[in-house]
Amino acid sequence: MKHTKVKDLLNSTKTIHEVTAKGWVRTFRNNQFIALNDGSTIHNIQCVVDFENTPETTLKRITTGAAISVTGELAESQGAGQKYEIQVKKLEILGDSDAEKFPMQPKKHSLEFLRENAHLRVRTNAFGAIMRVRSALSFAVHQYFQQKGFVYVNTPIITGSDAEGAGEMFQVSALPFDNTPRTEEGKVNYKEDFFGKQTNLTVSGQLEAETYAMALGQVYTFGPTFRAENSNTSRHLAEFWMIEPEVAFNDLAANMDLAEDFIKYVVKYAVDNCADDLKFLEGRLTEEEKQKPQAERSEMALLEKLQFVLENNFKRVSYTEAVDILRDSTPNKKKKFQYLIEEWGADLQSEHERFLVEKHFKCPVILFDYPAKIKAFYMRLNDNTEPGKETVRAMDILFPGIGEIVGGSQREERLDVLIEKMKALGIDEEELWWYLDTRRFGSAVHSGFGLGFERLVLFVTGMTNIRDVIPFPRTPMNAEF
Ligand code: 4AD
Ligand code: MG
Repeated sequence: MKHTKVKDLLNSTKTIHEVTAKGWVRTFRNNQFIALNDGSTIHNIQCVVDFENTPETTLKRITTGAAISVTGELAESQGAGQKYEIQVKKLEILGDSDAEKFPMQPKKHSLEFLRENAHLRVRTNAFGAIMRVRSALSFAVHQYFQQKGFVYVNTPIITGSDAEGAGEMFQVSALPFDNTPRTEEGKVNYKEDFFGKQTNLTVSGQLEAETYAMALGQVYTFGPTFRAENSNTSRHLAEFWMIEPEVAFNDLAANMDLAEDFIKYVVKYAVDNCADDLKFLEGRLTEEEKQKPQAERSEMALLEKLQFVLENNFKRVSYTEAVDILRDSTPNKKKKFQYLIEEWGADLQSEHERFLVEKHFKCPVILFDYPAKIKAFYMRLNDNTEPGKETVRAMDILFPGIGEIVGGSQREERLDVLIEKMKALGIDEEELWWYLDTRRFGSAVHSGFGLGFERLVLFVTGMTNIRDVIPFPRTPMNAEF
C-alpha cells in the first residue's frame, strides 16, 4: 500500500479509515505509544499499538531509530497536543536499531557531540528543522531571481584564477597524490599536470559571472565555494555555498537595493513557509538564552528578529562615517571590546562591525565606499578622491549576530584603470585576458555581490555556529565524511 507523509496526515481535515505511514521511531512509551517521524515535518505522529495483540518479539523491536511501517485508522486523538493519531492495525519493522548502540538517544545532546555524528544528527528535531529551512531558503533564492528574469549560470569549480586575490585557494591536481610530477627543487610541476597549469578550487564565481552579465544582462550563480583560510571560527567554513548575482547597468546604489530586496524576500519566504520549524527553533533558542546571564540575553525572540529585518530599512553608512562613529565611541576599559579604530584606512575587525550593528545602529547596516587598499582589484574606483585616500564602490552588509553576510561592489568598467590597478597589485594581465575582454568589447557599468548562504541560514535559524547549518561541514577539524 502507498504510504502518506506524516505532514499530510497531520494536516488532514477528516479521519481516514486506512492509512499507511513509514518513518523512524523517536520514542516508544508504555509499550503502546510510538512517536513516529518521517522528516516531512518537525511533528511526530502518535501511533497507538494494540499491544495485547502484538507479539512480544515485535514490541521489543520498536526502539528509537528503528524504521517501521504502520497501517491503521487515522483517528481523532484523545491525547493533548495532536489532532490525529494512527490506531495501528498492522505494524512492520523495516529496519532494526539497536537501542544500546544507537547514538541519537531520546535526550538532549550537545551540539559538539552531534557534529561528530553529522550523518545521524539530522535525525534530531533541531537538525531536521534546520535542514528543511535551508532547503526552503535555497528554493526561495532561485524563485526570487527567476521571477525577476535572471539567468542562472553555473560557473566553474576548477579554475586558474583567484577572484579575490587573497591567495586562499585549495590547489587541484589531476594526478594521484604520490605521482605528482616534481621539479628538481621538489615543487609540483604543473606543466606536466593534466591541466597544464596551476589550478585551484574556486573562491568565487564572480569573474566568470561578469562575462555572462555582459551578454545576458542579469545573472546569478549559486554554488559551492572554497577558501583555504583559517576557518576555525563559528563564521567560516572551508567549503560554503555562495549566491552571486551580477547585473549589467546597475550602479552601487542599485546593487544595494537589489541585495536588500533579495534578503528580505528570502527571509519572508522562510517565515511564511517554515512556520513550524522556526517556532521549534525559537523555542530551542529561548531555552538556551535562559542559561545566559541577563545582560547577555538577546532582546528579541527569533521570529521577532526576523520580522524586524523585514520591516526596517537597512542603514546605509559610508566607511568614513563608520570610522568616525567608532572613533567617537567610548572604548571599553576592560578591553573586552576595543571599539576605537586608530586610523582611516584600516580594515574593520569583526568587533567593530558588531559594535556598529548591535550597539550603535541596532539594525542591519550596509557599509560602502571602502578604502581601495583593503578591497579587491576589480572594484570601481570612486572619482574625485584625495590621493592616498582613494575609495572604491564596495559594499558589505552586516547583520546582527552574524557580522558580514554580503560582500559586493560596482565593478571597474574602465579598461585602463583596471589594468593600472592590476599592475600595481602584481596581477598577471595575461592570466585574466578573458576577463579584460569584457572591458575591451562593450564595457558598461555593472555591479554584483556575494551572499554567504550559510550565514543567511545562521541568521534565519538563530543558530550560532556555522558548522550546524550545513549538512557536512568542511573545516580544518572536520572532514571525516
Ligand atoms: O566578501 P567575499 O569574499 O566576496 C566575494 O567573494 C565577491 N567575489 C562576491 C561578489 O561580489 N560576487 O565573500 C562573499 C560572502 C561574505 O560576505 C560571506 O557571507 C561569505 O561570502 N563568506 C563565507 N562564508 C562562510 N565561510 C567562509 N570562509 C566565507 N568567506 C566568505
Ligand atoms: Mg568580504
